[in-house]
Amino acid sequence: MDSLWIDLNKNKQDFKKLEENLETDVCIIGAGIFGLTCAYYLSKLGFKVIVLEKYKIGEKTTGHTTAKITSQHGLFYDYLTSSYGKKFAYDYLQANEQAIKNIEEIIAKEKINCDFEKQNNYVYTTKKEDLKSIKKEIKAVQNLGFNCEFVTKTGLPFEIEGAICFKNQAQFHPLKYLYGLCNSIISNGGQIYTDTTVIDSKQEFNSCLTFTQDNYIKSKYTIIASHYPFVNFPGFYFLKMYQSTSYVIAVDTKKTLFNGMYINSSQPIFSYRKVKFGKKELLLIGGGDHKTGQPTSYKDSYGILEEQAKKYYPDSEVLFKWNTRDCIPLDKIPYIGYYSSTMNNIFVGTGFKKWGMTSSNVAANIIVDKICGKANPFSYVFDSTRLKPIKNRDELKNVIIQSTNSLLINKLKRPNMNFDEIENDSGSIIEVNNEKVGIYKDNNGKIYAVKPICTHLGCLLSWNDVDKTWDCPCHGSRFNYRGENIYDPAYRNLEVYNLD
Ligand code: FES
Repeated sequence: MDSLWIDLNKNKQDFKKLEENLETDVCIIGAGIFGLTCAYYLSKLGFKVIVLEKYKIGEKTTGHTTAKITSQHGLFYDYLTSSYGKKFAYDYLQANEQAIKNIEEIIAKEKINCDFEKQNNYVYTTKKEDLKSIKKEIKAVQNLGFNCEFVTKTGLPFEIEGAICFKNQAQFHPLKYLYGLCNSIISNGGQIYTDTTVIDSKQEFNSCLTFTQDNYIKSKYTIIASHYPFVNFPGFYFLKMYQSTSYVIAVDTKKTLFNGMYINSSQPIFSYRKVKFGKKELLLIGGGDHKTGQPTSYKDSYGILEEQAKKYYPDSEVLFKWNTRDCIPLDKIPYIGYYSSTMNNIFVGTGFKKWGMTSSNVAANIIVDKICGKANPFSYVFDSTRLKPIKNRDELKNVIIQSTNSLLINKLKRPNMNFDEIENDSGSIIEVNNEKVGIYKDNNGKIYAVKPICTHLGCLLSWNDVDKTWDCPCHGSRFNYRGENIYDPAYRNLEVYNLD
């Protein structure tokens, strides 16, 4: 099922596919909120920009977000202060607060009608034992000179033990915003191409070449805004981040809804906000997070969200449901800046860890300043070439174990299912002549067979029975049951076995 944002925009005219070689100042790979914000600022400054997108505008990560524009990224400022110091935490907060203002300013200046509204944001807990971490966070935020509040009453339909409230945050319709940016980019002379898959990008002396399947773009600068960086070396982003999948439902509660945007402070994560839908308001409930590629069930993904909806709104009806993926850096700080220290004409912004609405604007400003040769006071916080020790050693260990298992050990293990045991509308890996084969049987028993080896770096894929996809536990690429690549960093389809 499409997300509510995509459904509301499905009749929008899209752009053409790239069918010629072109030359430009800046080539931007990815037409999500980050890529288009870069294109917007640069085209306004008089740069010639070309944006290339594999799918449609904002169709992947931006089109599947809950679209909360906030500097409150969970309970984060106590962690930042204790790990990196007060100035660092202060600058992270200021960068994201500035991003909220920037987005509001763009919307006003370009007259973008995107349901933008100011809302308070809350991180809450319903557990007494978690109050201590909320209070610690409040102290850390107040210590940065930012005005936050401790509250025990919110609009939520259940009692809480306490919450930290950031005022003057915002929410909007992310695709309406993106199409508004596109209009401005085009009227500033920029070019946008969709259905265009980039397969490589490199820097040669002082210029860049970006290759699609049939054409290339020559540019002075390239910005990789493709969610997960697809160029493996140099950069090594696949060693520094993992991907997390989460789920969202949009519910008609048949009731008047509360103001505010909410997320709870500990597992299981639930997130809430309301959204306009024609004359109605729907409630978005998010959660069910797990590492991409790890097994889940309907009950643990959409199921727990539907249970929340029914618990507080027994007459409610789920109108949309979707899932999304986010890149999570091991040290929890986004990577923004040069793609690597050996590439000063190629830039990246990634690892927005579920807070991409503000992080994308922070990233666009830092990169535009770099291209213009201007100092940016926040760029050191997000430095993509940082060589700091990994703060999250447990997570690093998990990533290494997961990758070793999927690259080597699991490939040697015999699958524990055989062909006859696979039920209709389900899939599994089986062994045929000592080769692993990924099988999906549709509702009518029709069989789809693929080679279940990820086309990114060769990890063994796992079957996702909720979305009927093949998911990679190493870096989060995903493929549909036909073997078509639907999420990066892989961009090639799986090898398919013809059973006719
Ligand atoms: Fe990297 Fe699959 S996403 S090996």
